[in-house]
Amino acid sequence: MSLLSGNPQASVGQPGQSATPSKGLYLESYGCQMNLADSEIILGSLAAHGYEPVETAAQADVVLLNTCAIREHAEQRVAQRVRQLIAERRDGRRMRIGLAGCMAQHHREKLLDEIPGLDFVVGPDGYRRLGQLLEAGEAVADVRLDQHETYADIAPRRGEGVRAWLTIMRGCNRLCTFCVVPFVRGRERSLPPEVLIEDLENIVAQGYKEVVMLGQTVNAYSYGDVDFAQLLERAAEVDGIERIRYTSPHPADMSERTIETLARTPKVSPYVHLPLQSGSDRMLSAMERGHDVDQYRRLLAKLRDAVPAIAVSTDIIVGYPGETDEDFEATSAFMEEMNFDHAFLFKYSAREGTRAFKLEETLSEDEKGARLQRLIAEQEARAARINQELLGSVTEVLVESKAKKQEGWLAGKNPQFKTVVFDPRTAAIGELVKVRIEAAGSHTLRGRQV
Ligand code: 5AD
Repeated sequence: MSLLSGNPQASVGQPGQSATPSKGLYLESYGCQMNLADSEIILGSLAAHGYEPVETAAQADVVLLNTCAIREHAEQRVAQRVRQLIAERRDGRRMRIGLAGCMAQHHREKLLDEIPGLDFVVGPDGYRRLGQLLEAGEAVADVRLDQHETYADIAPRRGEGVRAWLTIMRGCNRLCTFCVVPFVRGRERSLPPEVLIEDLENIVAQGYKEVVMLGQTVNAYSYGDVDFAQLLERAAEVDGIERIRYTSPHPADMSERTIETLARTPKVSPYVHLPLQSGSDRMLSAMERGHDVDQYRRLLAKLRDAVPAIAVSTDIIVGYPGETDEDFEATSAFMEEMNFDHAFLFKYSAREGTRAFKLEETLSEDEKGARLQRLIAEQEARAARINQELLGSVTEVLVESKAKKQEGWLAGKNPQFKTVVFDPRTAAIGELVKVRIEAAGSHTLRGRQV
């Protein structure tokens, strides 16, 4: 029997089998896609304890925020939100409010003192025990990291839509100096390929069209003798899956084999998010990224050679301690040279527990802000210019929703993961349709179904 179908937790919560009446669970997710996927594991795990998702916090027996710790701002937002939820709690102690995920792991039981009224704290490796934790009468924390925990036997409860998340590995072994992830998510571990392929078959059977393989360093996937390239290949053989994406790969883990597989596997979308962080060798070395600027340049050239239609996005941190004007200019120039389709740009945020935390910051918030604004403006212009070149061309869109602004129009992503808003002829949500691009901005393409 497979691990997934053998999962006792997956069936206990089925209608008619639950001994206790259902309890309401209200869940908000913050941060990365991995957290969205973890929230689906939480829902799957708690279904076995009689919890069903509800739409508002007011209806809930348990309120859970699945949190992010990547930058201070992410934590401040959650701290504010949870205080607000605690203040709005009208029924005394009955409703339990807790924090899950990376911020929970980062601050651990301290949070119970710092946020009066908070009932529980659970880290990314504690979700299996969450049902029991919720039965505790007093305020509790479960922040034990477990380097073997993969939740391979817990069926996630996925949300609606055309896109399904599939966590293929957890944790990170890279230890970049600025990054809190290894400390809050622990070391790398991959899920068995049979479990993943079976889950992918479920994903198709449930009607999803696109799968996004997730991992903190997704291309470091390794289980027995199956590496990331082989997993992609096996996934592409699953009947009925239209598109396969993955995020986020680490440049230093991008093998030749993976690149070859990308080149000859059309179901894998021609899109890669390849975090760069800085275009200065001095900074890359200080951050211990494991590659220099020229290695990144050559990697991208290879990827573009292998997959000519590929779109590339990146992550950049400005204002890492010691970043000079020269370093910053190098980043700006290298971003232009790499001609990124999109970039996620961040001000450096010192995170307790990381090696960079001990370094003195050399730039003020205003100086970091000014650098950030400049890169944003340059990237907007670059993306608009790249997208303008698509005018008149026809692209394939996986339709995922109604357009937000235009009555009667639909929206979706093209293979390059660009948002396309279009005037439909016959299209419906969940279909792949051809759209001719008639207008292009820095973030959105607009057109008409052909
Ligand atoms: N400060 C700012 N940005 C950070 N990131 C990770 N850690 C930090 C930090 N301490 C960014 C990196 C990473 C993305 C997910 O978040 O760019 O790729």
